[in-house]
Amino acid sequence: MAKVKTTFYCQNCGAQYAKWQGQCNACKEWNTIAEEVIQKPEKNDWKVGEVSTKRVSKPLKINEIDGTSDLRIATYNKEFDRVLGGGIVPGSLTLLGGEPGIGKSTLLLQIALKLPYKTLYISGEESQKQIKMRAERINPNNNSCYILTETKTQNIFRQIETLEPDIVVVDSIQTLHSDYVESSAGSISQIKECTTELIKFAKETATPVILIGHITKDGHIAGPKILEHMVDTVLQFEGDRNHVFRVLRANKNRFGSTNELGIYEMQGTGLREVSNPSEVLISRKDEELSGNAISATLEGMRPLMIEVQALVSTAVYGTPQRSATGFNAKRLNMLLAVLEKRAGFRLGAKDVFLNITGGITVDDPAIDLAVVAAILSSNEDVALQRDFCFAAEIGLSGEVRPVQRVEQRILEAEKLGFSTIFVSKYNKITLSNTKIKIQLISKIEDLVDLIV
Ligand code: TYD
Ligand code: MG
Repeated sequence: MAKVKTTFYCQNCGAQYAKWQGQCNACKEWNTIAEEVIQKPEKNDWKVGEVSTKRVSKPLKINEIDGTSDLRIATYNKEFDRVLGGGIVPGSLTLLGGEPGIGKSTLLLQIALKLPYKTLYISGEESQKQIKMRAERINPNNNSCYILTETKTQNIFRQIETLEPDIVVVDSIQTLHSDYVESSAGSISQIKECTTELIKFAKETATPVILIGHITKDGHIAGPKILEHMVDTVLQFEGDRNHVFRVLRANKNRFGSTNELGIYEMQGTGLREVSNPSEVLISRKDEELSGNAISATLEGMRPLMIEVQALVSTAVYGTPQRSATGFNAKRLNMLLAVLEKRAGFRLGAKDVFLNITGGITVDDPAIDLAVVAAILSSNEDVALQRDFCFAAEIGLSGEVRPVQRVEQRILEAEKLGFSTIFVSKYNKITLSNTKIKIQLISKIEDLVDLIV
């Protein structure tokens, strides 16, 4: 009997080793290296039972290349199309990652059910009955969507050859396994092999393939980093599972920008596209409450009005507590230190809690000013006017710094009926005839004078 060939892979980054070792040289993670059985594939091809005539590609002048075949396929899901840059490109591989239960299967099934083309939804995780139950909740009337429950790639390709679908969805890449590799499903070598076969299939038949990928506990797509290099587009579906809003963004996009953002709301009947996110993310209460401030942030290219809530109270224990949801806790500590030093607020003995409403995580630095305003408002127990909003970054010396695309933020705030927007004095603003009052400030003390 031939000797079984094995090799060692880091389960975190996919680096390959000849023998076991405790730490991965590439990503420095401990205990991630595991042995996997490999076998040289005799025929690594997606076609079953026939030898494909390999096309040899020749160099072409760039002007001679036919670019028209890259027309996009609209998915009839505006937010999804927006993130992809206008639709799915034929022959492309798209990877959708996200935490368990966030709604990846729901999103792709929903898209598959809405498409008027022949779509094949392959699931290695749920039975046909379970998928049917889910489909009944979303959109029960569709007769061009086929469901296949199968995990072996050779069987999948056999079905694809007879069905000839226009779009293929695979839920999930970690459940697939190919006969050409011996290790178990979800292992690095299986993921690589199955993806290679799918890429070949996609490119040779110009059929777009969308893969669902699991993520590891630190938020990366499970499997080798190389998986993200192999596919054309990497999408990330995120949000807080206890909240209804979900954000779809592109981490990598060979056919468009990665600045676009799609927003969905999880409902009993699937995911609803949210086309006016600012209006749903801020709660328009009649009462003015202290500790609330609204920030004009920008997620990628999209302006988003976000509500920041702060609670400042006297610390019960010796060490004050600082906690932030949806905002970087280190940045919160920095802003508190700036407030203490530059504006004379004695926050050192206070508990400070910060929350971005809607379960959204923001890393736009322009939210700083709203965070500071919310903290000041709660500390003084004075409510800010509901029609104020803020967009500026705060520097370590308490200076209010300019942010990118401030005019876009101002226009969004105006559209939503805000009366005043606080921005940095150092922003170049050429807007004229705005109804909204643009309040320019240069240091944190100015804000204190204006609002408390
Ligand atoms: P699912 O798509 O199974 O998540 P993933 O594939 O990312 O693991 O989504 C599961 C959650 O979505 C589940 O907790 C129930 C909820 N859900 C709804 O709220 N409404 C719906 O119409 C559907 C289909 C699911
Ligand atoms: Mg799922």
